[in-house]
Amino acid sequence: MPVLEVRDLCMRFGARLIQEHISFAVEPGTIFAIMGGSGCGKSTLLKHLIGLLRPAAGQVLYEGTDYWASRVAEQTRIRAGFGVLFQSAALWSSMSVLDNVLLPLQLQTGLSTAEREARAMEALGWVGLAEFARYFPSDLSGGMKKRAGLARAIATQPRLLFLDEPSAGLDPISSRKLDELILDIRERTGAAILMVSHELPSLYAVADDGIFLDADSKRPIAHGQPEALRQTCHHPTVHAFLHREALPDEPVTAESGAPA
Ligand SMILES: Nc1ncnc2c1ncn2[C@@H]1O[C@H](COP(=O)(O)OP(=O)(O)O)[C@@H](O)[C@H]1O
Ligand SMILES: [Mg+2]
Repeated sequence: MPVLEVRDLCMRFGARLIQEHISFAVEPGTIFAIMGGSGCGKSTLLKHLIGLLRPAAGQVLYEGTDYWASRVAEQTRIRAGFGVLFQSAALWSSMSVLDNVLLPLQLQTGLSTAEREARAMEALGWVGLAEFARYFPSDLSGGMKKRAGLARAIATQPRLLFLDEPSAGLDPISSRKLDELILDIRERTGAAILMVSHELPSLYAVADDGIFLDADSKRPIAHGQPEALRQTCHHPTVHAFLHREALPDEPVTAESGAPA
């Protein structure tokens, strides 16, 4: 059974249609890509998938359970299986890195203080930030903030991980490290991962399946593995997106060579 299934989803803000007729399924342990140009509704779709926004029409099912048809207690149970990295990383600036990672463990698990701390430190270890646990977000580089956000998202050992442009704004080296980390996390945890990404090399390398949202027609125009779509999809919008020139690797400068 898919961990997540979306059936004919329609998303609106008031009278304004964002996207409609979105249907797809995500199998356990797979990586699913949400693609499309800026402003087409990718982040909005993630918000609909994690229970933050209610669909205007259609269904979102978790392991066969219709989320919006469920009671509040059931919705809470379903959400406890999610890990989320928002587009901005969104760390609490007044809290240490460790306290940021501890927060979802306090809110979503019944673990003891010692167990929570052990889990949080384990997650920070996975992303290479164990030594920075007591630092504050303002003391971290952009790549380190993303990794701290990733540690917070995986600390609860989610069955489903939602990542919104995890490598956006990072230099190519940090960005590649983050891709490797995401694959490593999938290997370790077996979580299914839904990812919004513009990083073509990582999409081709890691995504098992995906959907392409079109801003003009306000509906998906392609569905499949990104690498397969690159070779077979002739829709001009999809073709242009998937055939952009890869950015040449930038030389390692003092800044980009610093801990990512
Ligand atoms: N809370 C909101 N209220 C009204 N419109 C919104 C809101 N959030 C996003 N939008 C609009 O929805 C569209 C899709 O936005 P978004 O999902 O952020 O796009 P993407 O992540 O693909 O770049 C944009 O036109 C954006 O302005
Ligand atoms: Mg977005």
